[in-house]
Amino acid sequence: MSKLRAAITGIQGYIPDYVLTNKELEGMVDTTDEWIVSRTGIRERRILKGKDAGTSIMGIEAVKKLLEKKQIHPSEIDLLICATVTPDMVFPATANLITDAIGAVNAFSYDLNAACSGFIYALSTGAAFIESGKYKKVIVVGADKMSSIIDYTDRATCIIFGDGAGAVLLEPTYEEEGVMDYILHSDGSGAQYLHQKAGGSRRPPTHQTVDAHDHYVYQEGQAVFKFAVKNMADVSAEIMERNHLSSDDVAFLVPHQANKRIIDATAHRIGLADDKVMLNIDRYGNTTSGTIPLCLWEYESKLKKGDNLIISAFGGGFTWGAIYVKWAYDPS
Ligand code: UT7
Repeated sequence: MSKLRAAITGIQGYIPDYVLTNKELEGMVDTTDEWIVSRTGIRERRILKGKDAGTSIMGIEAVKKLLEKKQIHPSEIDLLICATVTPDMVFPATANLITDAIGAVNAFSYDLNAACSGFIYALSTGAAFIESGKYKKVIVVGADKMSSIIDYTDRATCIIFGDGAGAVLLEPTYEEEGVMDYILHSDGSGAQYLHQKAGGSRRPPTHQTVDAHDHYVYQEGQAVFKFAVKNMADVSAEIMERNHLSSDDVAFLVPHQANKRIIDATAHRIGLADDKVMLNIDRYGNTTSGTIPLCLWEYESKLKKGDNLIISAFGGGFTWGAIYVKWAYDPS
């Protein structure tokens, strides 16, 4: 008998309306559109506005539309995992808020934090629940309101990040498709290069931590860049080798959107031409857990049943990895 696998059977994204352009950033910090585009590939990003508007709002919108599209009643959902580094609150989990808002009364739910690798960690975890045979409908959300932890006086970070969310539905299949393989890594010694200094149990919020801007993303860009280029390229090549896939066999690379130069280096390493690389960094920047599901959503109409996708990410932790997915449906 063939193996029970988790197929992605639906995808939906959500992006907030407000567009923060490079031009607007030029008026906020000492930067230029030319610098941002040439160093990162980013032209604009979306920002979630509104009083008390947290990450869950974007997750709720994405999941609601996904269920509508799939004509699935929320009570059919068994599990919802939300990858995020910007939960609405420290607790309860944003996933709990999403399941409550959509009426997924039979689901258990939790958040998963693996920074920019959050979505691939959550996708592989969700797939394992399906492969166990115990769960039939699992939703994996990647959602981040990065604008809530960005210092808009720091030109090194504020130009990079944006807000957005995406969600996929996983269902069981005995066909040779779905989540075929994954390789995941983490290395906490990388924490020094990319972290949020205060707000956790080590340094709870105080007036001093707020005054020192310690509740924002701290990044040593060049150091992170070097690790990202090497590890995202290596792990993408490794998963292809392990599954005997050549560049001709791969329909698309689905890379985390942190920097166009990191994406290009990864594509080059595995021998993929530009038209086989999913990209939206120019319009959304780095939405952390949102980048990969937003790419899949925007490219959904181009994907065919049987297409081989290499999904890869690198992020804070450090965390990184790659997933080999065989796409399970044709465009509708
Ligand atoms: O997704 C999570 C993982 N994160 C990543 O993968 C991000 C990895 N890192 C990067 O993408 C890049 O390192 C950045 C985009 C963050 C920075 O690009 P870079 O080419 O590494 O620039 P740099 O940090 O080496 O800075 C070069 C120069 C510096 O000036 P000096 O010292 O040469 O005079 C910076 O002060 O560019 C300056 N600079 C800027 N200039 C204009 C830094 N940010 C800006 C800016 N506008 N926004």
